[in-house]
Amino acid sequence: LLPVLLLLASACGDDHLTRFPQTTFAPATEMASEQMWLFHLTMWMGIVVGLLTFGLMGWILWKFRYRPGGPEAQQFHGNTTLEIAWTLLPALIVAVIAVFTVRAIFITQPEPPANALNVRVIGKQWWWEFQYAVGRDTIITANEIHVPVGQPVQLLLESDNVLHSFWVPQMAGKRDLITNRVNRLVFTPREPGVYMGQCAEFCGDSHALMKMRLIAHTPDGFRQWLENEARPAVEPTDSASAVAVGKKLVTQGVCAGCHVIKGTPMVGRTGPVLTHFGRRRTLAAGIMENNAANLHSWIRNAPAVKPGSKMPQLGGDVQNALSDEQISYIVAYLQSLQ
Ligand code: CUA
Repeated sequence: LLPVLLLLASACGDDHLTRFPQTTFAPATEMASEQMWLFHLTMWMGIVVGLLTFGLMGWILWKFRYRPGGPEAQQFHGNTTLEIAWTLLPALIVAVIAVFTVRAIFITQPEPPANALNVRVIGKQWWWEFQYAVGRDTIITANEIHVPVGQPVQLLLESDNVLHSFWVPQMAGKRDLITNRVNRLVFTPREPGVYMGQCAEFCGDSHALMKMRLIAHTPDGFRQWLENEARPAVEPTDSASAVAVGKKLVTQGVCAGCHVIKGTPMVGRTGPVLTHFGRRRTLAAGIMENNAANLHSWIRNAPAVKPGSKMPQLGGDVQNALSDEQISYIVAYLQSLQ
């Protein structure tokens, strides 16, 4: 009983969402509401049936328990009324659940809306790539998906490696990213805000570290974000500054093979596109705040932070290691990419 009570108590309180940012009990779209409603319906029906069944069973066990010298149990065959009742009642319960389940399937698998914003989502090991088609241009970013409120968002989910699953619980239920297949997920965010998400399909060593943020903007805010993303990277203003030294290290050095920064010659597509990296709130797929200290330790030794990461150890005890000073120039440049 104690664990059950503790479990119930842990779910109480106004700051539920703060303490459990990936809760499914704070839906922020019609789809998430529908899914929560279906969950409540089946859960409460199950609770009622469970209590009745086990309650009745307990009562019968107690009432008709063995007593020395008691009467022998009555022997009879069949009870038509009872048999009709226990066939019809479960059939009715299943029918009710089926009706609402089918309704929810239609809501969660809608036709592509004509006015939808399409975002291509590609699952990587272990991070997310997001692509927006704007005219002939493709805007590519990572780990933070930006969307407007009040407009349907259609995600086109793909994977270029193993299976992943896109899950931002306040927006919608999980949907898998499958190799050689495009899955769709459509939802309409209602309120601006930052919504937490996470990969929900085991995909290797750092599956638990494959997080993301969904950032819902006002339509104007979203347009501004998109316009800024479309621009090439910001140039360092002072050619003698740490930022300029960092730029040289990044664009002519070891980062260039794996990353793209628009406006520089970098073309590597193994790692995330970094054109406006300084604007991201988090790094390493949402597991750390994007600040100088975290970025420094990430560049110095990424696999220590994220086991199995393709981002190699670049500082410390390796051949041709970058010095801490060089890393701090790189950090200064990456943070300047607003
Ligand atoms: Cu990607 Cu788990």
